[in-house]
Amino acid sequence: MGFSTPIAITMTNCASIEPILSTENLRVEYAALSGSAGNSREPKVALKGLSLSVYRGEVFGFLGPNGAGKTTTMNVLLGFTSATSGKASLFGTDVRQPISRQRIGYLPELTYYYKFLTAEELLRFYAKIFNIPKAQREERIRQVLHRVDLEHAARRPIRTYSKGMQQRIGIAQALINDPDLLILDEPTSGLDPVGRMEVRHLIQRLKQEGKTVFFSSHELGEVETVCDRVGILAQGELKALGPVQELLAPGERSLEQAFLRIIGYQAQEETLCKKSPLSLAS
Ligand SMILES: Nc1ncnc2c1ncn2[C@@H]1O[C@H](COP(=O)(O)OP(=O)(O)O)[C@@H](O)[C@H]1O
Ligand SMILES: [Mg+2]
Repeated sequence: MGFSTPIAITMTNCASIEPILSTENLRVEYAALSGSAGNSREPKVALKGLSLSVYRGEVFGFLGPNGAGKTTTMNVLLGFTSATSGKASLFGTDVRQPISRQRIGYLPELTYYYKFLTAEELLRFYAKIFNIPKAQREERIRQVLHRVDLEHAARRPIRTYSKGMQQRIGIAQALINDPDLLILDEPTSGLDPVGRMEVRHLIQRLKQEGKTVFFSSHELGEVETVCDRVGILAQGELKALGPVQELLAPGERSLEQAFLRIIGYQAQEETLCKKSPLSLAS
């Protein structure tokens, strides 16, 4: 039905405005590790000239098999990894300037929280890091817990949380500074279908509140329903970019079918038995 029309309008409007997140010819090489496979001294090229832009209010799904370079891209945006060449910026400011990250929230792929803390205590800790004035702190914590549906568990230690609740407290942590852009690294990974649905609803609510969400995933079913646009990365190169509907070739009915074609996955009986396509490493 009218699904592709609003997206097309969004895209037309996007063309004239400045992106919130952008990379231009981004290349990242990691020094060869001693003892790496085949004792190769060649650097590992994780990103080979990535160019993409994400615009205000978009939910952008950053897809790719394991090892494609998704986390590396996020690490450059977050200032954890330096680009070998190319450019990356947030809100029009080069990511080499820490001020570019003032209005972002970030959920890492793996979160490590002190499990003996309650949700309130954890969020208080992050609120202090962000210098949220004491007078506003408790109200902000309440608001954030409400957004992720964890008010009822605010005073329980995190160790008693389900995996889905732990992921939601991670997102609450990313929201504590009321960011305009959320960078979420595999927010649905390891969650059961209910947990995935909860995170999906949360992303939809964030979009309704006007936030921009850039998240990586290989849960293609989730992505299909929640994203305005997706980018498909494989072996450090962007293979496709656009609204899901536009990436489907004639006859393809799901993002998974398009994804497998785009990453060049060849279904071979032997491979199918041994290895999941989504775990293909570069
Ligand atoms: N610190 C590092 N040192 C060396 N190689 C790395 C490092 N981090 C990632 N890589 C390699 O870079 C490639 C991209 O990794 P990553 O960005 O984590 O992919 P993804 O998040 O898409 O799974 C992989 O081949 C990975 O092994
Ligand atoms: Mg990753």
